[in-house]
Amino acid sequence: MASERYDVVVIGAGPAGYIAAIRAAQLGMKVACAEKWTNPKGELALGGTCLNVGCIPSKALLASSEKYEEAAHHLGDHGIEVSGAKIDLAKMLARKDGIVTKMTKGIEFLFRKNKITWLKGHARFTGEHDGLVGIEVKTADGVSLVDAKHVIIATGSKARHLPGLPVDNEIVCDNEGALALSSVPKKLAVIGAGVIGLELGSVWRRLGAEVTVLEALPGFLAACDESVSKEAWKVFTKQGLKIHLGVKIGAVKTSKKGVSIAWTDAQGAAQVLDADRLIVSVGRVPNTEGLNLEAINLAADERGFIPVDGHCATKVPNVYAVGDVVRGPMLAHKGEDEGVMVAELIAGQKPHIDYNTIPWVIYTSPEIAWVGQTEQQLKAEGRAYKAGQFPFMANGRALGMNAAEGFVKVLADAVTDEVLGVHIVGHGASDLISEAAVAMEFKASSEDIARVCHPHPSMSEVMREAALAVDKRALNM
Ligand code: FAD
Ligand code: NAI
Repeated sequence: MASERYDVVVIGAGPAGYIAAIRAAQLGMKVACAEKWTNPKGELALGGTCLNVGCIPSKALLASSEKYEEAAHHLGDHGIEVSGAKIDLAKMLARKDGIVTKMTKGIEFLFRKNKITWLKGHARFTGEHDGLVGIEVKTADGVSLVDAKHVIIATGSKARHLPGLPVDNEIVCDNEGALALSSVPKKLAVIGAGVIGLELGSVWRRLGAEVTVLEALPGFLAACDESVSKEAWKVFTKQGLKIHLGVKIGAVKTSKKGVSIAWTDAQGAAQVLDADRLIVSVGRVPNTEGLNLEAINLAADERGFIPVDGHCATKVPNVYAVGDVVRGPMLAHKGEDEGVMVAELIAGQKPHIDYNTIPWVIYTSPEIAWVGQTEQQLKAEGRAYKAGQFPFMANGRALGMNAAEGFVKVLADAVTDEVLGVHIVGHGASDLISEAAVAMEFKASSEDIARVCHPHPSMSEVMREAALAVDKRALNM
């Protein structure tokens, strides 16, 4: 069978892979992208975890549930009385599904526009010959063989499950089921107080579920700056999320009606949690199954990741790996930037990623966002730093919007004043953090941020005030 030859073959069309494919095509290369994702309608779909069962549907449900909570409980603060706010869950889920379809079809359009061939099926390596990498794609019509001068592995990740606790996505759910519960459970249990546990736990709490989160670690949101995790703990528990830290999960019994989870609390006392549904959100594992990496003399490491250098090159010449399948944070924008970097490297350019300036966001309410180092990391490094913090409570726009919880904290080098980290807990933190990322990319000082004119009234003034506070000269406090 004759093989079609490409300059670049990308395996996986999540945010890392589809962006790599588009950038490579923009740079004039002949590109194909293999993708096997099948959606619940049985159709093949582009977009990976992010568009189908991750970032996009979760943010749609976060937005809908936030609107419901506001209508049902908070519009009274504005002098607007609403009675009888009701949830039409089927409509809410259909809206989310509609957004997913729009976005995934949008990538099909982008593939056509950029003349990228979609190889519809599961790709595996067959070997190397004449300086080319051989790949076989199992499609509905049989097997396609392609030869690639360069390969970008972007196979992403899947939910980690707990041993002995099968996920049926009805009663026991991972992210896929948790985004599509057919009814609002009366009692919802969540194992893992990480990003998914908090975001999706918030969705179902807002819609009326009594949510209990069981977390193994003794600390809450350990990756965040401590002042942010303390504030978040205060706000989330006040909102009604029950969170238990330092727990050990024991036997979980499931039935058609629900789950019964035996667990041990931080003091060592035996406890039982009964719930209608359970979300297991204990991290994600890289996807390398069935890739036949051995055929090109490549192997995943002991945790399942494909080993790469700082430019996402594997040890096999002309084979790269990007996104969740390699080290670093499992974030869509991190994968996208790696995809762009690798496409540009292949084209002979000299791109670079500063992993320290990749922002993080947790889309709870209030949102949490940060970039750079935390205060505890700077202390551990023995770096001399100054900190400036300013609350949204002292900002007119925040008060006007009834969004006065939280603060911005800027950390800067004690000698040079270079911004080393920015931490936000507050409404719109996901957008506010970009200013900090830009500042850090340009090696700005806190004084640089403080000297820039910010619009009034706006939440962004709090960023400026926090930067001024580094030098103990906040103006409105
Ligand atoms: P993926 O998106 O996992 O895509 C990999 C693709 O490769 C899949 O489509 C898969 O079908 C395909 N594939 C795998 N193996 C093969 C093969 N052999 N042949 C053909 N195709 C193959 N990140 C954020 O930055 N912001 C968020 O708000 C956010 N929210 C999230 C919410 C949830 C509920 C979840 C689960 C994740 C969220 N993430 C978020 C993380 C984000 O989704 C991932 O970091 C991102 O999708 C990783 O992109 P990727 O391209 O590396 O992999
Ligand atoms: P996570 O790594 O964020 O959190 C998992 C939590 O589960 C941790 O706190 C861990 O200590 C806990 N845990 C692990 N094993 C446990 C056990 N046996 N019992 C109790 N607790 C246990 O992983 P999560 O929430 O599954 O999300 C996966 C990844 O997806 C995230 O790390 C993130 O990279 C990405 N994501 C990003 C989002 C964003 O950017 N807003 C949103 C959702 C997911």
